[in-house]
Amino acid sequence: MQMKANQIAEDQRLEIRNYLDLDHREEMMRLVGEGLSAEPKWLHCKYLYDQRGSELFDEICQTREYYPTRTEMAIVERYAREIMDFFALGGGDLVEMGSGSNQKVRQLLDALPSRSLERLRYVPFDISESALVDAARELLDIYPRLNVMGIVGDYTRHLAALPSGRKLLVFFGSTLGNFNEQEGLELLKGVASAMNPHDRFLLGLDMVKPVEVLEAAYNDSQGVTESFLKNILAHLNRELGADFPLEHFQHKAFFNAQRECMEMHLQARQELTCRIDDLGLETRFTPGETIHVEIARKFTPDGAKQMLRQAGLAPTRWFSDEQGWFSLVELARVG
Ligand code: SAH
Ligand code: AVI
Repeated sequence: MQMKANQIAEDQRLEIRNYLDLDHREEMMRLVGEGLSAEPKWLHCKYLYDQRGSELFDEICQTREYYPTRTEMAIVERYAREIMDFFALGGGDLVEMGSGSNQKVRQLLDALPSRSLERLRYVPFDISESALVDAARELLDIYPRLNVMGIVGDYTRHLAALPSGRKLLVFFGSTLGNFNEQEGLELLKGVASAMNPHDRFLLGLDMVKPVEVLEAAYNDSQGVTESFLKNILAHLNRELGADFPLEHFQHKAFFNAQRECMEMHLQARQELTCRIDDLGLETRFTPGETIHVEIARKFTPDGAKQMLRQAGLAPTRWFSDEQGWFSLVELARVG
C-alpha cells in the first residue's frame, strides 16, 4: 500500500506523520451511517477517542474499580529490564500501538541507562492526534536523548506505516479485546507480517475473572466510564453536525459469559429522534433502545494461545501477575 503522510510537526527530535487525511472522515461517515441504520444500532469504538475521549480514558484508569491499568503496570514495572534487553542487542524502534498517554512506556524507558536511549527511536501510533502529540512532547522533556516519530493513524487501516527496521512493538491495555475475534485476528496477522524474524511484539491481554470484578470495572461509581461512552455522541455532534442529547442516554455495561466479553451500550431513556446533518440522516429511538458501542473481550490462556497460533505468532515469554488477572505476552513471528 502506498500512503502519503501529512507531516504536521517537526523539530529536531520529534517528527509527526499524520495518516488521517480526507478518507478518515469518509470512513467515519460511512461507518456511522451503517451503524445507526442497522438493527440493533452500533457505533465503532474507535470514535470514542477524540481529545476529550483520551482524557476520560486516562481518568478511567485512575478509578478504584478499573483494575487493568494498575495490574498491567505492575507487570511492566517488574519485568521492564528483561523486556528492554531487546535494545541491549542492538538499536531499533520501540513502537507503541494505541499509545494514549504513554504512561506504561515510561516504565520501559526508565529501565534503560540514559545513554542507551540514543540507540532507540520511540514510535507512538494512535488515532487521537492531540493525545499523541501532547504525550510525545512530554516524553521529549523527560528524556533529553530520546527521538520520537509519532504516527497519527488508524491501525485497522494504516499498518503499512509501521517502520520496517528492527523493532520491539508493544500493544498495552488489552486494547486488542476491543476488537471482535475476526478483526482482532486480522490485526494480529497484520502486525505479524510487519515483523522481521528477530523483532518482538509485547501484547497485553486482560484475562477472564470473576464477573463482579469485571462488571465493577466498567460501571465505576464516579460515572467516568459512562461519560467516556457518551463522549462518542459528543464527538459525532461536533464532527458530523449531529444533535444527540447526551442526557437522554444511559450507560449499560455487562459481562456476556458466552462470548467472554464485556458489552457496552448506550440506552435511550425515552423516545428520541436525532439528526446527523452531514449524513442527511434521521435516526429514531424507542424508549430503552440501545446503541452497541464497545466490547472488551477477556481471554483465557488456551484461547489466547490458539488465537496467537492462528495469527502466526509464537510466545517467547509470558509475564503475568500472581492472580493471573492480566497477561503480557512476548511474541515472535513464526517462520
Ligand atoms: N495503551 C494505553 C491506552 C489504551 S486506550 C493504555 O494501555 O492505557 C486505547 C488507545 O488506542 C487510545 O489512545 C486510542 O486513541 C487508541 N486507538 C483506538 N482505536 C484506534 C485505532 N483504530 N487506531 C489507532 N489508535 C487507536
Ligand atoms: C482501551 N480499552 C482496553 C479499554 C477496555 O478496558 O476495554 C476501553 C474502556 N472502555 C471502557 N472502559 C475502558
